[in-house]
Amino acid sequence: MKMSKNFLWGGSIAAHQCEGAYDEDDKGLGIMDLVSVGDYGKPRKIYSKLEDGVLYPSHYGIDFYHHYKEDIALFAEMGFKALRISIDWSRIYPNGDDIEPNQKGIKFYQQLIDELLKNNIEPIVTLYHFEMPINLVKKYGSWTNRKVIDYYLRFCKTMFVTLKGKVKYWVTFNEMNHIDPQTKATDIFTYIIAGLKYTDLDNKKQTLATIGYNMTLASCLAVRLGHEIDDNNQMGCVFGIEPVSPVNCDPQNVFKAFMQTDRDFYQIDAMCNGEFPKYKIEEYKRIGLNIDVTDSDKNAFKEGKLDYLGMNYYASSVAEYEGSNGKESALFGGLQNPYLETSKWGWTIDPVGIRYLLNYTYRKYGLPIMITENGLGAKDKILESGEINDDYRIDYLKEHIEEVKKSIELDDVDCFGYLTWAPIDLISATTGQMSKRYGFIYVDMDDNGDGSKKRLKKKSFDWYKRVIATNGKNLDI
Ligand code: BG6
Repeated sequence: MKMSKNFLWGGSIAAHQCEGAYDEDDKGLGIMDLVSVGDYGKPRKIYSKLEDGVLYPSHYGIDFYHHYKEDIALFAEMGFKALRISIDWSRIYPNGDDIEPNQKGIKFYQQLIDELLKNNIEPIVTLYHFEMPINLVKKYGSWTNRKVIDYYLRFCKTMFVTLKGKVKYWVTFNEMNHIDPQTKATDIFTYIIAGLKYTDLDNKKQTLATIGYNMTLASCLAVRLGHEIDDNNQMGCVFGIEPVSPVNCDPQNVFKAFMQTDRDFYQIDAMCNGEFPKYKIEEYKRIGLNIDVTDSDKNAFKEGKLDYLGMNYYASSVAEYEGSNGKESALFGGLQNPYLETSKWGWTIDPVGIRYLLNYTYRKYGLPIMITENGLGAKDKILESGEINDDYRIDYLKEHIEEVKKSIELDDVDCFGYLTWAPIDLISATTGQMSKRYGFIYVDMDDNGDGSKKRLKKKSFDWYKRVIATNGKNLDI
């Protein structure tokens, strides 16, 4: 297959990591507004209410709320074909259960989308990127409660109607998939996904299974609704997945690796195959968990199938095995691969992994796939000359794009877009740091939120511009 001339080159950002303005224009408090900055290797601290003297990075982000025109102009200068943004639910329904939406929030996103369209950039809109009004957690228990699905659909409907004819590509959820009852859960992952700290949960396994099911169901219902409102809508969901290798060819280890790679695919199965997978229901039963699949849920799975899949890819890992004492991989658990290098934050760099996953997923579902996130978090240095030579970032992206190209041109995977995380430096989701930088554009701010907020082009800026201009043909530094 040839690389399409309409291939969507661009980048991805998320509201709580870039907008700032956390209490402007009647925005409500969102779950990430209560999480502090972490430090190398140390998790972010999660608060139950705002406390004086604590630094909450979502409160300032990179002030995209006031800089979006300038930032979009820079993306346009790079030739972006697409930008994935997220809509912060708490700007639209500040408490989540409000009857009427907040018009000021709606206006902001209308202007943002118009600005993208004016610059010929296709908007790709995520409806839930770790951004839930905190009130829904406190009053209803977050996704453990089916009422929250109704509030989510109310929010989705508002956005589908508001942006009808302007937005074609929707993402129902970003990475709902890291909370499986069978794996080691962490506070930060359950919190960013559902606003709940793992260690605080009663009946932990059942709660995680219920959340996983309810969010999957909510996605299918949103897909059905999106199609009803506009049959031009292309409905997708984004998963953060990684290939897990066996430590050796002992069949037990090979099997473990398969099961760990496949861990989160039950949700993708449910969203693509028209039913919630029986193997998962049976697995839950065996460990004493119960999921109630109603008749109306069954219709939702049948009628809410995805049009495309979004894939976030950063790293791979090695399956844990009996007696393993290897170095833990820093991303979704598992062990580090001794054949591969890691980033400064311990994420294993494995370009071939992206080809593996593209093939695996495409052959399983036959749906078009968009790479919705891929990138390297690194420390950048401004030289005296003012230049920022981020060759390491260019190397990472180049090696991954090469594998994406092979997937398309040699393996015939229908991959229709590649978005980097993130085209501009922003707040890290897992650490809250500003110094974990991903962008082609440097933002002059530090981990304390201090700095001029000035935007500076890194070396990778011109590199990516050339990649886009040549439709991925010229990847040379
Ligand atoms: C993805 C998330 O999983 O990883 C993004 O969708 C996040 O929100 C990205 O920023 C990179 O992770 P981090 O912790 O380095 O920001």
